[in-house]
Amino acid sequence: MHIAFVASEGVPFSKTGGLADVVGALPRALAALGHQVTVYLPRYRQTKLTEPAVAVPSITIPFDDKYRFASVVSGGSQSGVRFYFVDFPEYFERDALYGTPAGDYPDNAERFALFSRAVLEATKILGVPQVFHCHDWQSALVPVLLRTVYAEDPAFREVGTVFTIHNMGYQGLFPPETLPLLMLPWDLFTMSKMEFFGQVNFLKGALTYSDYVTTVSRKYSQEIQTAEYGFGLEGVLRDRAGTVTGILNGVDYEEWSPQMDKFITAKYSPQDLAGKALCKMDLLTAFGMSNADPKVPVIGIVSRFAAQKGFDLIAQIMDRLAREEMTVVALGAGDKRYEEMFVRLNKQFPNKIAVKVAYDNAIAHKIEAGSDMFLMPSKYEPCGLNQIYSLKYGTVPIVRATGGLDDTIEPWDARTGKGTGFKFTEYNGEVLLLTIKQALQAFRDQTSWQVLMRNGMNKDFSWNASAREYGKIYERVRQARSVTPVLEKVLA
Ligand code: ADP
Ligand code: GLC
Repeated sequence: MHIAFVASEGVPFSKTGGLADVVGALPRALAALGHQVTVYLPRYRQTKLTEPAVAVPSITIPFDDKYRFASVVSGGSQSGVRFYFVDFPEYFERDALYGTPAGDYPDNAERFALFSRAVLEATKILGVPQVFHCHDWQSALVPVLLRTVYAEDPAFREVGTVFTIHNMGYQGLFPPETLPLLMLPWDLFTMSKMEFFGQVNFLKGALTYSDYVTTVSRKYSQEIQTAEYGFGLEGVLRDRAGTVTGILNGVDYEEWSPQMDKFITAKYSPQDLAGKALCKMDLLTAFGMSNADPKVPVIGIVSRFAAQKGFDLIAQIMDRLAREEMTVVALGAGDKRYEEMFVRLNKQFPNKIAVKVAYDNAIAHKIEAGSDMFLMPSKYEPCGLNQIYSLKYGTVPIVRATGGLDDTIEPWDARTGKGTGFKFTEYNGEVLLLTIKQALQAFRDQTSWQVLMRNGMNKDFSWNASAREYGKIYERVRQARSVTPVLEKVLA
């Protein structure tokens, strides 16, 4: 089947978080299953193309004030997947993808509306897929456009749409005037479509108009149907619960495993862990702590600095955590508030918490390999990839039992020798501190700790199984679309 991915970031061309890892890896896994996969991304300043070739020289995008003219550039094929980039330098040739630490770019609605519309137009020339697979609010207008302004377009009559929610916390909320500016009909501005407390909600549009909605873990698919995790859209999701499902993200082990990793100083495996000690020294050196005692456990953090990730809990307990024998090594960037918080903690506890405020892929890999434990106390976590990477590196995850963190980490039981990490449920600093102390205590018994490490290293979260699940959903959507236009009846 021909599937077109439409997304705002994808490895190796652009990345701010896990969405890019998914868009980099899932298409390849689908291609390996025999699907034809095309990936559409914006062409950002950070997008490096070796031989860019113009694929579509000009696409007219009507806006209310003036037309905009985008082009599409081909990025060639990799592992059987074709890549195309929407080129509109005025919108995408910028320092960042979505905004600066101070906030989002003010024209994000225009930027990603132009992207979505350009993709639809481009496929008429480059090949209309059987299914559009869109991701997060930045491509949410694709299903909306297909079922509204493009509803009569014969090119798209049998095309299905699957929409994956990677994060309910980012919905694409804009003022009502956005609709006429983007030449979208006013009747979308109703509660049953895109209106959301007086604003236009792109994500809500996709949840309304997509044929099928997925999210990135089973637990999160349930959580987002509740008020605690639904960010106000829980009712919309509950209304179509029959076509909402959770499919766990996989891992590209060519990128993220201690046997293959290009960024780490020594390779290692469950059979031979010796290299991990060298990786630990290399990590400590990278953080200016080459004199540290290698026996002291290192707790790693790699993260976007955002409220979602639960770091306010660390601030609450840091003075007491600092009394323990351990070192925290943190890499992250994002909200100014959390960047400043980590810098402050580092000043206060210079021997206990080392921090790099940066986005640095090489250091991220070094932390995965060189740490003994990996901390993700997230408030919510749709899937989370770093804890799954950590398992492969024998870096024991300490996580809050939410979303994908809960689905992927099994609590360690020293008596049975089963389990892969440490989990806590209540979002509370005291409980976090207790859980970290349990991990530090377990670390003292190195024989059983190695059992715990190997339990994680032997887990397999490769993409194949999840790609097959997506394949089934594409098939269901395609069949329903080609059998009858009244899709809802068939899928219900
Ligand atoms: P999210 O998508 O919510 O940010 P995930 O755990 O799914 O969380 O994925 C995060 C991805 O982004 C991982 O590949 C991680 O290594 C990477 N990452 C996050 N922050 C940084 C950073 N500061 N530097 C380098 N890589 C980072
Ligand atoms: C989001 C989520 C993260 C998930 C990633 C990829 O950014 O925050 O939990 O792993 O998308 O699906």
